[in-house]
Amino acid sequence: MKPFPPYRIQVVKEIPITTRQQREEALARAAYNPFNLPASMVTIDLLTDSGTGAVSAAQEAAAAQADRSYAGSDSYYRFREAVDDLTSYPYSFPVHQGRAAERVLFSSVLKPGQISLSNTHFDTTRANVELLGAEARDLPCAEFGDLDSREPFKGDIDLDALERTLRGPDGERVGQVLVTITNNGGGGQPVSMANLRAVRSLCDRYGVPFFLDAARFAENSWLVVQREPGYGHLTPREVARQAFALADGCVASLKKDGIAPMGALIGVRDPELAKRCEVNLIATEGFRTYGGMAAHDLERVAQGLDEVLDPNYLRSREADAAHFAELVTQAGVDIVQPAGMHALYLNAGRLLPHIPPHGFPGHALASELYLAGGVRAAELGSLYLGEFDSDHNLLTPAPFELVRLAIPRRTYTQAHLEYVADVLADIAKDPSRVASYRIVDAPPLLRHFNLKLKQI
Ligand code: F0G
Repeated sequence: MKPFPPYRIQVVKEIPITTRQQREEALARAAYNPFNLPASMVTIDLLTDSGTGAVSAAQEAAAAQADRSYAGSDSYYRFREAVDDLTSYPYSFPVHQGRAAERVLFSSVLKPGQISLSNTHFDTTRANVELLGAEARDLPCAEFGDLDSREPFKGDIDLDALERTLRGPDGERVGQVLVTITNNGGGGQPVSMANLRAVRSLCDRYGVPFFLDAARFAENSWLVVQREPGYGHLTPREVARQAFALADGCVASLKKDGIAPMGALIGVRDPELAKRCEVNLIATEGFRTYGGMAAHDLERVAQGLDEVLDPNYLRSREADAAHFAELVTQAGVDIVQPAGMHALYLNAGRLLPHIPPHGFPGHALASELYLAGGVRAAELGSLYLGEFDSDHNLLTPAPFELVRLAIPRRTYTQAHLEYVADVLADIAKDPSRVASYRIVDAPPLLRHFNLKLKQI
């Protein structure tokens, strides 16, 4: 029997249907940067799975009962109950979103000159490490380097590289190890429990704190149940509890697996660290019982954390991503294998061999998806990750030219994803028609959000 979603659709929102002519004008007005497009000009928005999930009737019912007390509100205690059930961290704080959690935790852990080691730092995570004068160093496992390999846990951190760094001359400077589950910057691939256990023991041996970036903890847990020997009999909730238990704490954007429009969490075990986080939180985010979240979002998150671990929901979400992946590969577009759950990562470099890295194949494909079908997606290639030397007009390309098609939770039906696959299939029939791009204006910070480009 094919999996199906354990809900029906009760409230819908109309999506804009546009003509190619309108989209060409809109993209030109947006300086060929999809981040500048008004959503009213986007038909299927696969830019992100963050804060874009559909909320349930139960979440809205809980939100309606929110208690807006400044200190100790009922909504805070419901949030704590949901979080404590999963994490067992004695200290946890609500925060308005993941990057704020990063800032508050890291500024209480890291000192200038220290190093943060990760399977892959997400972009805001890297920025928050670097803003403290520390270094963010990625150690993805070797299997990730082969986009076509179907190894089940390509999100793992490279344990040999981790141990070498901890033992070597830089070891003294390592301030934290942060493992991102699932590894969004690394193709949305899951991390095995065996890898997390090994990180735990290395961090114990070298006396370094180990944190999770747990934005997609439920999807990681589900993929562990499906793929890792010895876990098939556990529920995703049981696996999630084990994963949180292995770490000294976590940051987690709850705009993903909290299925909420806004929210995040900091969890820690160390009472001294908790005190430092609390002072920073109160000074910059809000009192410790709301931390910048509105009471109705505390309620939505508390309910969302329960719904996201429903095996029927996770099974259906995995099946949606797998079906989408199958259609896209049948259409002749390769993806980072194996398909994860929150996104497909298209191999634009392979589809568009006529476009060199400095013509930005990922951006070219993302733009064409928009022009051809009103589909918005994010480039993850040389435009975003390449290194620019503007003095010499030189680009060091990114290792891969990818486009991420993120899949918002409970938001689009299979028919929407089939439509996107059809648009891609049309492009893949004659990829040589796809135009390349050049940069006309690139700000030094957070480049990809503000770039201006031109078609060549
Ligand atoms: N960590 C990971 C792994 C993320 O994917 C994100 C956000 C964050 C931290 C930051 O959380 O947005 O709540 O501040 N990812 C979104 C994305 C934006 O599209 O992948 P935030």
